[in-house]
Amino acid sequence: KPTYLSDYRPPAYRVTHTELTFDLDAKATRVKARLHMERHPQAKNGAALELDGERLTLISIAIDGQPLGEDEYSVDAERLIIESVPQTFLLDTEVEISPASNTALSGLYQSSGMFCTQCEAEGFRRITFYPDRPDVMATFSTTVIGSATTEPVLLANGNPVERGSLPEGRHFVTWDDPHPKPSYLFALVAGDLEKVEDRFTTASGREVTLQIWVEEENLGKTDHAMASLKRAMRWDEHAYGREYDLDLFMIVAVNDFNMGAMENKGLNIFNSAAVLTHPHTATDVAFQRVESIVAHEYFHNWSGNRVTCRDWFQLSLKEGFTVFRDQCFSADTNSAPVKRIEDVSFFRTAQFAEDAGPTAHPIRPDHYIEIGNFYTLTIYEKGAEVVRMLSNLVGPEAFRRGSDLYFERFDGQAVTIEDFVACMQEASGIDLSQFMLWYSQAGTPEIDAHGEYDYANGDYRLILRQRTPATPGQYDKQALHIPVRLGLVGTKSGRDLPLTLDGESLGSDTVIHLREEEQEFVFTDVSEAPVPSLLRGFSAPVKLRFPYGREDLAFLLANDSDGFNRWDAGQRLAMLALDDLIAAHRNGVEKVMDTRVVEAFRHLLNAEIDDRAVLAEMLTLPSEAYIAEQQPLVDVDAIHAARNFVKQRLATALRDDFLRLYKANDSDAPYAPDPDQIAARGLKNVALSYLMAIEDEDAIELARKQFAADHNMTDVRHALTLLTHSSRDDIAEPALKAFGEKWAHDPLVMDQWFAIQVTRPQPDVLDRVAFLMKHPAFSLKNPNKVRALIGTFAGQNRVNFHRLDGAGYRLLADVVIELNRLNPEIAARLITPLTRWARFDETRQDLMKAELERIRAEELSPNVFEVVEKALA
Ligand code: ARG
Ligand code: ZN
Repeated sequence: KPTYLSDYRPPAYRVTHTELTFDLDAKATRVKARLHMERHPQAKNGAALELDGERLTLISIAIDGQPLGEDEYSVDAERLIIESVPQTFLLDTEVEISPASNTALSGLYQSSGMFCTQCEAEGFRRITFYPDRPDVMATFSTTVIGSATTEPVLLANGNPVERGSLPEGRHFVTWDDPHPKPSYLFALVAGDLEKVEDRFTTASGREVTLQIWVEEENLGKTDHAMASLKRAMRWDEHAYGREYDLDLFMIVAVNDFNMGAMENKGLNIFNSAAVLTHPHTATDVAFQRVESIVAHEYFHNWSGNRVTCRDWFQLSLKEGFTVFRDQCFSADTNSAPVKRIEDVSFFRTAQFAEDAGPTAHPIRPDHYIEIGNFYTLTIYEKGAEVVRMLSNLVGPEAFRRGSDLYFERFDGQAVTIEDFVACMQEASGIDLSQFMLWYSQAGTPEIDAHGEYDYANGDYRLILRQRTPATPGQYDKQALHIPVRLGLVGTKSGRDLPLTLDGESLGSDTVIHLREEEQEFVFTDVSEAPVPSLLRGFSAPVKLRFPYGREDLAFLLANDSDGFNRWDAGQRLAMLALDDLIAAHRNGVEKVMDTRVVEAFRHLLNAEIDDRAVLAEMLTLPSEAYIAEQQPLVDVDAIHAARNFVKQRLATALRDDFLRLYKANDSDAPYAPDPDQIAARGLKNVALSYLMAIEDEDAIELARKQFAADHNMTDVRHALTLLTHSSRDDIAEPALKAFGEKWAHDPLVMDQWFAIQVTRPQPDVLDRVAFLMKHPAFSLKNPNKVRALIGTFAGQNRVNFHRLDGAGYRLLADVVIELNRLNPEIAARLITPLTRWARFDETRQDLMKAELERIRAEELSPNVFEVVEKALA
């Protein structure tokens, strides 16, 4: 069943050109394929031709115009085999497929009446018989035939070259894509769509038409995506010297989509949630997410499409690199430190958990059962962290030379992670062989650091020890090459001290290279006792422990020159206080607030801070999920109680400061998703959260006013969330009702309405989830709805999902069992919270495992099977 990296063989036959004709019909679409094929020069004479194909009804098959007899080929559930073919030939097939019954949303399917495709990773084989692997690259010519009334718009990759009408109210358009591409980048869209159009002139003068295609009612929601696209196109020209390479670039918004978006050549298809925005329907977070996803998919045109992956084990080659590229773009466009803080706090919560659980895998896995399960935080986000380390290791100039070399050398090819790293090594002259371990070793490395200042001779001795815990299938780990960026902050001056190591002066901020299991670094001429600021900017995806005292952390929070580490010091300080409170809660003793945290917050609230966006982050306590990640054993109730206690104490002690902060950042300027406004709204809403933690009349009044003012979705959603989470139903219910009625017509806003309610801390929320699953706006067939209602409940409502009677687990397992038949990819993802059973007490462990067993007893899709097997192994 599993596929192994070590089994990779080049294809015996390749396709040089692919001609497709789709005669669209909801239940019976006919697909004709003419493949121009030739035997690979290295393949052995007479090798059989194997084509992938799933759920296809074969109508006809011919080679060089000669229909094949039944004994000349065989077809099973996964492939078609022709024993004997010429060296060069034309293969013609015709198949029938049913887009209307495709609930897995992989291949050709229907969404809100329109036809659309999702082929990555292995969806093309549900469209036609084909060598559906990324190392087979062909030019494509696609003719789409549809009804002139229900499918007036017919789109595919490349440029439209011919169109015309046909008998019986049908019409066609033919598209040519001159760039050779693997089948996973194929796309087709047909339906009743409207477009918004713009233009872009590339650096070298190519005129590109930009189109965003949406359902008519969404025409007013494309401005931000279009502006983001143009910014991304310009940025890629400057940052990487990459230009767009066709005359037309299209984005289509579809309502039913398994992921965020897809980089199909010239025809990106987006989950409508990842492209549509409007100040009244989308929050700041959504605006920023749209900007980054539009950029991500656009950047794939080079990192993914022009240079693609040899096989799916190399997925991080395109995803890690492209995430790194989109992160840098967003950092350049918005507040760079805040972007880093957001990315890292998400990473340390979710990716660390993945890397410590039963589904942990290296950035380049060595086997898989279902590749759809490997679109993970490890492949994407840890992959991006590794590219970031590379860029820091070799420096920006060599990194750019390396990426230029990569794009030039491998243009039009399907390559490997080694190929990419080799370019960086060549461009920099730095030996990256030890660094390669990052790609093959799973698990989060842990660094234990100790430091000592020698007053007598002014030395600071730093000892770093690394270890990577065992992960499934990998018991012995080798030492990694870990770049640690650091500074020594003088306790007297509050400044970064000059650093001298081995007689070399390194400025006041430098990167040291940890390569051994244990290494000592002695900084000389350190003129005052320092507090070390370690792993600045999160220079490596590791857990770093250092025995900081609370005074040290308060000191760094006030003085560190690295914005990221200032924030991190605050998080560490809060964690120390939270740990005490969690212990107090468990032991049933009275909780006492650490006054150092209160004073640190008071200081923040009254200091002159130039980056207000960073301030909003510093005033935000670690999330329950992050706190849980730090505990040896997760006690959801103690964590919830401890965090609420801190919030309430801070709110009580600093009420006037928060009120002042609220007022100072409240504005009725027309909405813009710009960094200044986003920072102001962030601060205002953080303040409101604290004020609502004590829920006095003034706070309730402020939240109600903000909700009723209906100024923009960021403010409305935040106020509604606080009102909904209130312990008073007379406050929660009317606001929810008003919002639900007002937005009943807008599916993306209804997703938010679902998500807000199911994060309520009140114990009756489980009934609410069950009730909302019957709401007319809910559908198990729509992934956004499933994520909003079920995913949010299981992933974010920790106290209620982990209820001691197991009802939360049962509900999730019921949904997984149903979705296993409808949409295996979404079903498999949904199981994640249950796979983390080992982190909880025995009662909960047993309950969670029992639900996993119940799922296992079903007839399972490969997706769900793989996850459940790992979880129970
Ligand atoms: N390549 C797409 C992106 O990162 C995601 C495709 C996901 N496909 C899937 N079957 N999960 O933008
Ligand atoms: Zn991607």
